[in-house]
Amino acid sequence: MSSNVIAIDGPAASGKSSAAKGLAKRLGVLYINTGSLYRAVAWKARKNNIAFQDETAITEMLDKTEVIYAIPENGGNPDIRIDGTFPGEALRAPEIAAGASAVAALPPVRAWALGIQRAAAEKTMVVMEGRDIGTAVFPDAKYKFFLTASPLVRAKRRLAQEGEALDGATVESVAAEIAERDKRDSERAVAPLRQAEDAVFVDSSEMTLDQVLDLLEKYISKQKEVTMTYRVPYADTDKMGVVYYANYLVYFEMCRSELLRSLGYTYSQMEEDGFAMPVLEAVCRYKASAHFEDLLTISATVTEIKGVRMQISCTVKCGDRLLAEGYTWHACVSMKNGRPVALLEKLLQLCK
Ligand code: DC
Repeated sequence: MSSNVIAIDGPAASGKSSAAKGLAKRLGVLYINTGSLYRAVAWKARKNNIAFQDETAITEMLDKTEVIYAIPENGGNPDIRIDGTFPGEALRAPEIAAGASAVAALPPVRAWALGIQRAAAEKTMVVMEGRDIGTAVFPDAKYKFFLTASPLVRAKRRLAQEGEALDGATVESVAAEIAERDKRDSERAVAPLRQAEDAVFVDSSEMTLDQVLDLLEKYISKQKEVTMTYRVPYADTDKMGVVYYANYLVYFEMCRSELLRSLGYTYSQMEEDGFAMPVLEAVCRYKASAHFEDLLTISATVTEIKGVRMQISCTVKCGDRLLAEGYTWHACVSMKNGRPVALLEKLLQLCK
């Protein structure tokens, strides 16, 4: 299972880049745009007057081309560096987008791109967007989404992006250009654009970016939910015969440990490796009481990650009855110096 990758695929102008970038930011992980890789090939081919369909000349060009995803000097997400320079915005031009779609259909280009994309996710957790991430590049990605929107919405979004449409372009002309590109991307022989069978389908036509991000995050945290049962012992109850309120925080902790265990990494292993996850804040809302010998169902799930901080939400139920719900905020710190360490990335690296 390639748990390092969250794959977001979809057609042109479907909002993949904004969603992937936003999701990576929320999770505190890196964002990789794979379209830039094909755009860089088209960009260099154009500079060298090579036709986008000339497989032999492009293959020869790639033999003499150095391309990696590198962090730009001013920081941020990894970007395409080709022969030592970051072309950046030059890759967004409409003629380069069309060229990217053409070179992306050439089998040697796809084979070459595969290695670069896989290397970019080798050492760290990434949100990677493209056309074939969930089907060909990382078919074993743990989380896969297929993002789309209606042709009209996509054309309007593309038109609103500065520098991505030709001067004088209209919604109709942009819609036609997008349709042509999608057709070529979907009909090519190698790694065509299509939804992976196990990808979550999201139509964002009627959604704001925040709504899309909430939805993606919900799917990711849902998959991480862990549930355990616990029968209330006499020792947990107070003089009124109900579970003492402070014990619910202990139940939260028990389930948090199970959550970590389910990731393949126990809390004691984490401490042995020199890390700790102290509680920064704890909130519990009480809805109903539990009694001696009640069978409780306790659930825990990661609901938010902000930089080095992580929120874990818990519920305690007896049958269908909600007894208590709440959350704890944690920071992942080094036990050596108490300094924060990048949380999700660290955990996932350790889980590997
Ligand atoms: O996402 P984008 O618009 O920057 O992509 C430009 C072109 O690159 C797209 O039309 C098809 C190709 N591409 C691809 O074939 N596979 C990917 N994983 C990403 C992009």
